[in-house]
Amino acid sequence: MLKLKKLVKTYATGDQALKSIELEVPEGQVLALIGPSGAGKSTLIRCINRLVEPTSGEVWLGDTELTKLNSSGLRRARREMGMIFQEYALVERLTVMENVLSGRLGYVGFWRSLTRRFPQSDVDEAFRLLDRVGLLAMADKRADELSGGQRQRVGICRALIQNPKLLLVDEPTASLDPKTSRQIMRLICELCAERGLAAIINIHDVALAQMFVQRVVGLRFGAVEFDGPPEALVPDVLTTIYGEEDWEATIKKDDEEVAQ
Ligand SMILES: Nc1ncnc2c1ncn2[C@@H]1O[C@H](COP(=O)(O)OP(=O)(O)O)[C@@H](O)[C@H]1O
Ligand SMILES: [Mg+2]
Repeated sequence: MLKLKKLVKTYATGDQALKSIELEVPEGQVLALIGPSGAGKSTLIRCINRLVEPTSGEVWLGDTELTKLNSSGLRRARREMGMIFQEYALVERLTVMENVLSGRLGYVGFWRSLTRRFPQSDVDEAFRLLDRVGLLAMADKRADELSGGQRQRVGICRALIQNPKLLLVDEPTASLDPKTSRQIMRLICELCAERGLAAIINIHDVALAQMFVQRVVGLRFGAVEFDGPPEALVPDVLTTIYGEEDWEATIKKDDEEVAQ
């Protein structure tokens, strides 16, 4: 469903963030993209929806070459791709409901969005989603009244109300404690399964990735170093991906957490 062909990104600074990435994600597949800080994970998912403009190569979503689209074509195509961010990117002074509905801005017209008049069907769907993630009672609260885990649930609802085919998820748990991180990862993976959604989840935490997904792609210096099932991530492979970084400490810390 998603296909990256020889995808290259070189920033104006000369940083070669992606070196000819080849990647295919079939419909409904959830994969974790792991790798050390600076490996190119954020660049990769941002090149897919062209928040970052690729230097060369092709990105295909179904039969559409995203890298060829003009701005109106791109706006339409972006509806198919929901994004979830590490820092949630909510509008703090708006309510939970308003933040969720902002996910529909790619659909409702400009004037309608300016006056914040959303169709009743959108409002109904927002309530359904909030109910699903356990936030129904919070619909009228301001975003800045929520905990980190609750904010990320709002971010998830905002992405899903777009009715995307693909979720692009950038370090969804990096600002959360270990227990909340697991809950959020589980929730994202469950929702993808329920809706037949494909997802690329950027995640620094190897143990967390291994717990929830069937496919892991490891990036290092902008190149794919590993692509396989989580159980194939043996220590040698992890050392190849993470170099001298202390990945063992991450796994150990997490095991202790689970044991408690
Ligand atoms: N806006 C930018 N301008 C210049 N270089 C960037 C920019 N964003 C990222 N980079 C560089 O690209 C590389 C990959 O970064 P990034 O995609 O953020 O990696 P990750 O998400 O895996 O930490 C790094 O070397 C980083 O310094
Ligand atoms: Mg990143």
